[in-house]
Amino acid sequence: MSNELLRLDGVTKRYGPNTVLKDVSFTINKNEVVGLLGDNGAGKSTLVKIMSGVVPMTEGSYSWEGKAVPNVNRAETERLGVETIFQDSALVPQMSISRNIFMGREMTNALGFMKIKKMDDIASEILDTVVTIEGIKSSKQLVQSLSGGQAQAVAIARAVHFKRSLLILDEPTSALAVRATEALLDYLVQLKSEGVSSVLVTHNLHHAFQVCDRHIVMNHGKKILDVKREETTVEELTAAVVGGAEGLEKYRANKKK
Ligand SMILES: Nc1ncnc2c1ncn2[C@@H]1O[C@H](COP(=O)(O)OP(=O)(O)OP(=O)(O)O)[C@@H](O)[C@H]1O
Ligand SMILES: [Mg+2]
Repeated sequence: MSNELLRLDGVTKRYGPNTVLKDVSFTINKNEVVGLLGDNGAGKSTLVKIMSGVVPMTEGSYSWEGKAVPNVNRAETERLGVETIFQDSALVPQMSISRNIFMGREMTNALGFMKIKKMDDIASEILDTVVTIEGIKSSKQLVQSLSGGQAQAVAIARAVHFKRSLLILDEPTSALAVRATEALLDYLVQLKSEGVSSVLVTHNLHHAFQVCDRHIVMNHGKKILDVKREETTVEELTAAVVGGAEGLEKYRANKKK
């Protein structure tokens, strides 16, 4: 049986005259943490949006466990169990932490009333266990009262609560302190043992190297490297991210000497 979870084949994305992804193909397997790396503007967030079904691809195909998904949209990826922490996480500042976590997926009773207490309790529990971030007193607190890192923790908690098969994280640690970052990275490894794969977008190659089983490097909308952890080094990843395909070639040529 194939171990394949999500596969993109020949994905191209154009915005008007600009081609931001060119013929990108890769697979995310079951029980795998994959690093999606590359410089600013390389196309990582666009890939994240395509994998999450919030932005359509111009050309290419999407398959899940070997079966083609003809109409990829958010409803479909939600059904498949994909959850995403977007780089520009959309939270509603005037609402509480728990309302933000359950936005659009509120728990209700038989009469249609929201189970506020239940949602508050679950929200507190996730914030205590997964992201363990300082200074959040209650899940009833309004998001506008939070710092950047605390708000990021809420976005993480939201995705973490609803994930079932794939968790996609676009720069999740950019506003987190060291301890919260370590907790999140550890959590990805734990999720893998529970059968949930992750895709981690990060500019921190040491973080990527610490937890990812495989690394995909993007450069100007093209995939230039797709390599298992044991077949690469932080130095090689750095060369690819910073220097693109040329930088990678140079690095490899120098290594051979
Ligand atoms: N809605 C859009 N309309 C037009 N161009 C876009 C749009 N979204 C992204 N782009 C362009 O696509 C390219 C890739 O952007 P993307 O956000 O995927 O990069 P990234 O790899 O996530 O970069 P970063 O590391 O800075 O987050 C950029 O050149 C960007 O300007
Ligand atoms: Mg991005």
